Amino acid sequence: MSKQVAIFLSGGGSNMRALVTSMSNDHPARPALVLSNRADAGGIAWAAGQGIATEVVDHRPFGPDRAAFETEIAARLMPYDIDIICLAGFMRVLTAGFVTQWQGRMINIHPSLLPRYRGLHTHARALAAGEREAGCTVHEVTTELDDGPILGQARVKVLPDDTPDSLAARVLAQEHLLYPAVLRRFAAGDRTPLYLP
Ligand code: GRF
Repeated sequence: MSKQVAIFLSGGGSNMRALVTSMSNDHPARPALVLSNRADAGGIAWAAGQGIATEVVDHRPFGPDRAAFETEIAARLMPYDIDIICLAGFMRVLTAGFVTQWQGRMINIHPSLLPRYRGLHTHARALAAGEREAGCTVHEVTTELDDGPILGQARVKVLPDDTPDSLAARVLAQEHLLYPAVLRRFAAGDRTPLYLP
């Protein structure tokens, strides 16, 4: 039986699309659900067009009550018998309560070479610091933000005329290679870190 994967996103979902497209033939996992906190997320429309189940849990009605928001997410996940959660541009911080329920079964992609540049605006910060290389990291999600065991990294050379946008575009292209490759291993029970190139 294939591992059932839920992908969480908040925006266009380019990583989600790469993951969904990769899960075919002898791949040990299948996309069971795409979930977003935003009804207008481009990734929701795309997934629905592909015939993949979607769920939207708007975080705004819950206000500061993150636990209530996550209780609703957990309830929406139940019918799908999810084995693995992939965070892919999901812009809500999950509390320890939710993370501990899924620790070891939830992974995330972050646009920096962790442990450097946790948090937001990673490319602008890397350029401001004069970094000569940047990249992305797939890691297991733990209660520490952008922490957790590293499952894969892809490195990108920083070019002299790079802007945050030009660097982000090159890193994103690597994300679309790294995340599917890591998910394939992870779904097969292999946590050996993968380094690209
Ligand atoms: C990317 O920078 C990714 O690293 C981060 O969210 C951003 C948007 O990803 N997790 P996507 O295009 O929505 O997949």
